[in-house]
Amino acid sequence: MSKEVKILGIETSCDETSAAVVVDGRQVLANVVSSQAELHKKFGGVVPEIASRRHLELINPVIKESLILAGTDLSQITAIAVTIGPGLVGALLIGLASAKALKYVLNVPLLGVNHLEAHIYANFIEYPDLSPPLICLVVSGGHTVLVFIDDDFSIEVLGQTLDDAAGEAFDKISRFLDLGYPGGPAIDSLAKEGDSEAIQFPRAMIDRKSYDFSLSGLKTAVINYVTESNENGVTINVPDVAASFQAAIVDVQVDKLLRAAREKQCNTILLAGGVASNSSLRINLAQQAAKTCIKVLYPSTALCTDNAAMIAGLAYKHYQDGKTLGLDANVDARLAIGSSL
Ligand code: KG4
Ligand code: ZN
Repeated sequence: MSKEVKILGIETSCDETSAAVVVDGRQVLANVVSSQAELHKKFGGVVPEIASRRHLELINPVIKESLILAGTDLSQITAIAVTIGPGLVGALLIGLASAKALKYVLNVPLLGVNHLEAHIYANFIEYPDLSPPLICLVVSGGHTVLVFIDDDFSIEVLGQTLDDAAGEAFDKISRFLDLGYPGGPAIDSLAKEGDSEAIQFPRAMIDRKSYDFSLSGLKTAVINYVTESNENGVTINVPDVAASFQAAIVDVQVDKLLRAAREKQCNTILLAGGVASNSSLRINLAQQAAKTCIKVLYPSTALCTDNAAMIAGLAYKHYQDGKTLGLDANVDARLAIGSSL
């Protein structure tokens, strides 16, 4: 039997410091995530400089804990994997510098991973028997990308946001409504008490043939609605605003996902990224998809939000393909989704 490949993964692209140990791309021995959400809460969003400094403080203890939980030590690690983009440049650099130090000391391969591709790959950890063709919507704080994964695991980008990412819109509207940070979970839970049909917010690009998204108009519509109501002395029902705003986002995503699945003749739709935790998106998509016998899958919450297990998991493919990096590797804050998984 060939020796198992035990990869230590590091993720620091935004406000989660994470380290994980994954065997052969699928078996997660440890996945430690230290969220900085509390630290950024009072600013209503991630402050890049604060995020970098906190990553620097947390990275070594988080790596150490992941090794302890995995019941292993550095001498047993086959390769080091790290997120090289997209993300906040300063935050990414902390992860890469740590990964390079480990590569140098241990003399093992260094593997660079695209954060967005790793979000998609989280589904393959959750469902080891998953096979293409697949449609996947990657929805996070920084991205909204709809992709097609062909039989050979190649990725075709069908559409993406032309302005704000879905998570960004959730966070901005949450801040505007004083609901706290991160905004997605806050709006998701408050929306459960509201009427999603109370206010008809625009569903941008829903009728367009394109698979692109646009959310800035929706954001403006919500802000205008609340501002005008306040000016006119009309009391707004915040749960109704939250539910109607969320429905406007979800409707467009569900519509485009189902259309893409039909066009590409896929019977499985995947969700990935932090916003894939949204309960309304999950429920509505599953209900609509069931009508046409399309299956909807998404990773468990721990694998949906930023985590290093998805980084170490996808890195196994890079390891098999011999795609390694040298000590001169750099990060790319705007790294685009690649061509294959
Ligand atoms: O993937 P992720 O953890 O980090 C990025 O790579 O951006 O996604 C974070 C985003 C945040 O904008 C957060 O508000 C959003 O995911 N989010 C949600 C939910 N849980 C997290 N958005 C909507 N509904 C949720 N339940
Ligand atoms: Zn992410």
